Amino acid sequence: MVDDDRPVLVTGGTGTLGRSLVHTLLDAGRPVRVLSRRDRSPAAPAAVDWVVGDLLTGDGLSEAVAGVRAVVHCASNPRRPGDDVDAAVRLLLAARAADVPHLVYVSIVGVDRVPYPYYRAKYRVEQIVEDGGVPWTILRATQFHEFVANVLDHLSRGPVAVTLAGVSDQPVEVREVASRLVEIVDAGPSGRADDLGGPEVFTTTELMRAYLAATGRRRPVWAAPVPGIGGFRSGYHLTPEHADGRVTFAEWLSGPAELPKNDELSTND
Ligand SMILES: NC(=O)c1ccc[n+]([C@@H]2O[C@H](COP(=O)([O-])OP(=O)(O)OC[C@H]3O[C@@H](n4cnc5c(N)ncnc54)[C@H](OP(=O)(O)O)[C@@H]3O)[C@@H](O)[C@H]2O)c1
Repeated sequence: MVDDDRPVLVTGGTGTLGRSLVHTLLDAGRPVRVLSRRDRSPAAPAAVDWVVGDLLTGDGLSEAVAGVRAVVHCASNPRRPGDDVDAAVRLLLAARAADVPHLVYVSIVGVDRVPYPYYRAKYRVEQIVEDGGVPWTILRATQFHEFVANVLDHLSRGPVAVTLAGVSDQPVEVREVASRLVEIVDAGPSGRADDLGGPEVFTTTELMRAYLAATGRRRPVWAAPVPGIGGFRSGYHLTPEHADGRVTFAEWLSGPAELPKNDELSTND
């Protein structure tokens, strides 16, 4: 199975997870194809086959899925959750028409229990994948370190750093998610995979204090009683029984030199 020289298609291969996955696949000797709405980045590794396309219009999709060994669906737009559902339908139709042997969907722990619009859309996409007629695997992960740091950055720009009272998180290293996805691709269709969570559960106040210390921002911290987030307060987005990630948020913040940031695929620069 590992000798398979058909490419693995990564949708969202220019995103946070997608970039890491592309590099992890290449490092493991797996041919890679990226689907992006944008033109090929001049810095993209030569080994990457790049298809310009759009999951919402269907442009480029049949070319992207042709002859692949697997599709790892990382593309998403949290700002327009309904688009993820439309995109999934188009992807499944194209994948089924091309007899794609394995579709891997990256989801989030708790999408079935947290009543948050983006989570509801992702749960709907899980159901589309399960019923879509293409052999599948779904991996749910907790929040990536990058995402948590980004949120903490926004919440600490004012004179007071704001956190979410009663809410904890379990951030995970994105490259560990990428490594798990390579294992999943190699294993073949497996249905619901074990969830993947970061090594530690911390309150958002603890995470904020770590972030402030790492960035040198000196602020008082206020845990605000935010309404409408009971699902997060209940911890449905956590998976302490699958705290299988090893890189802690503090270690990620300290940014070990040997950990590349994988920016070569980004077309933003
Ligand atoms: N962030 C987290 O903490 C977290 C945690 C668990 C699971 N996840 C899941 O992991 C996946 C990846 O998340 P991420 O944070 O890495 O995403 P991201 O950085 O926001 O990247 C999203 C990608 O989606 C692509 N995309 C968006 N709309 C598209 C369209 N219409 N057609 C084709 N491509 C489109 C974009 O590619 P172009 O702009 O190049 O077209 C971009 O590379 C998502 O499904 C997310 O729900 C994320």
